[in-house]
Amino acid sequence: MLFECKNASLIYDQDKPVHTYAVRDINISIEQNKFIGILGPSGSGKSSLLYLLAGLKEAATGSVIYNGREYKNLDEDEKSRIRKKDFGFVFQRHFLIEYMSVLHNVLSVTNNISQASIDKAVYLLEGLGLKGLADKKPSQLSGGQSQRVALARALINDPKVVFGDELTASLDRGSTGEAMKFLKEYCRNSTLIIVTHDPTILEGADTILNIWDGKIKGGV
Ligand SMILES: Nc1ncnc2c1ncn2[C@@H]1O[C@H](COP(=O)(O)OP(=O)(O)O)[C@@H](O)[C@H]1O
Ligand SMILES: [Mg+2]
Repeated sequence: MLFECKNASLIYDQDKPVHTYAVRDINISIEQNKFIGILGPSGSGKSSLLYLLAGLKEAATGSVIYNGREYKNLDEDEKSRIRKKDFGFVFQRHFLIEYMSVLHNVLSVTNNISQASIDKAVYLLEGLGLKGLADKKPSQLSGGQSQRVALARALINDPKVVFGDELTASLDRGSTGEAMKFLKEYCRNSTLIIVTHDPTILEGADTILNIWDGKIKGGV
């Protein structure tokens, strides 16, 4: 298994007298190279589950294991090394660097810029419908275009796992369909973990985890 959650819970504001669970008693296993959808309404705990899986937040109870290693036993440096090497992230807020061009935003997460990495960045931008925008600055783009630049950046290192949190939130229907099609095709040999409230983008998913009030209904 690539990921395992065993009775994992996440609590915000642990030091407060009354604990509220963002997610509770999560038991899931995720195999490599699958497309997993995490579906649920706003506030149901989708992002929290993603943070647990990516080792961005620590489980208050239970364990979260990536590739045989329990996050709890790793220090921040080790976790950050795993994220840098194996994971690509696209969040609802895209965090592009304003003073860099679109092309250099995509390349900003690579170790060294080579002709091959530039070619790949151009390929990703074109595949995501952003042909001709490589030299623009983020402020010259629409929200939907910026979100696709963030997606190209998440893919540039061919990560083992792509985490997307409401990654199509600012895209219209047409570009959502195109971006998801490209993403699924590009990630045939990677694991895709996509958090959304929109079931239509999860077409073709191997597993859909329905989350409600911090709990998974059904489960894997
Ligand atoms: N930083 C935070 N501090 C306190 N509570 C939070 C925080 N982030 C989320 N929560 C709470 O945790 C629950 C799950 O939130 P979240 O995982 O963001 O849900 P979703 O992504 O499905 O909208 C909600 O009740 C939310 O209010
Ligand atoms: Mg969320």
